[in-house]
Amino acid sequence: MVLQMTKKQGILRFIQLMPRTPPATRFILKDLPGSGRRIDILCRDLAACFDWAPTIWPRERIELVAILGDTKALHFTAPPDSPPIGEVAWAKAIKDSLDGRPPPFVSVENASVRDVVAQIRRHGGHLWVLDEGGRDLTEIDSGIHKAENSFMLGDHMGFDSQARRVIGEMHIPAISLGPRSYLSSHCIAMVISHFERMTHNARRGVV
Ligand SMILES: C[S@@+](CC[C@H](N)C(=O)[O-])C[C@H]1O[C@@H](n2cnc3c(N)ncnc32)[C@H](O)[C@@H]1O
Repeated sequence: MVLQMTKKQGILRFIQLMPRTPPATRFILKDLPGSGRRIDILCRDLAACFDWAPTIWPRERIELVAILGDTKALHFTAPPDSPPIGEVAWAKAIKDSLDGRPPPFVSVENASVRDVVAQIRRHGGHLWVLDEGGRDLTEIDSGIHKAENSFMLGDHMGFDSQARRVIGEMHIPAISLGPRSYLSSHCIAMVISHFERMTHNARRGVV
């Protein structure tokens, strides 16, 4: 498995685990949650990453890896021009990618959560899991935005037993955004906003 992960300073990477979503293309664009077995979660994550969430954080320094059915990893980078807008447009890009016709900003590999975590660990940088019960995001080192940071998210039902096993065995630290459970896309937006604030404070000399 060779996901072409970018080796650059200040990369913010989100890893959306979707063990209950098969890597199949038979979903109907008008019924993404039902026919797509919650592929709508991924569509909203992509819109957050590459459309509405970043304000000053460069989209070129955001990546999203989605692991479907614990067998297939889709690796998204920022679309260079005319990015898909809205859930249906992103769903078409996902469908094309799973059909073997990925747009230039997507690569597809056979990979499990364990494979992706091992690769990220080899690659270096920080790896976190987003979990309500973890350490508060505001407590992490304020200079961390200059490094590579990867955040794992569960799906609508959280993490399955396989993901929990990998998280435990690999000692991946948990980060919380508060006690309430938010949509994955909103968690992504909160993390991006926090990194933007760290960048802004560093520019003003506030640590
Ligand atoms: C929609 S939530 C899952 C909700 C599910 N009911 C559960 O109990 O896990 C999807 C994912 O977003 C992340 N998440 C949601 N709220 C969070 C919070 N307050 N802090 C950290 N991560 C959160 C977690 O990774 C979670 O698995």
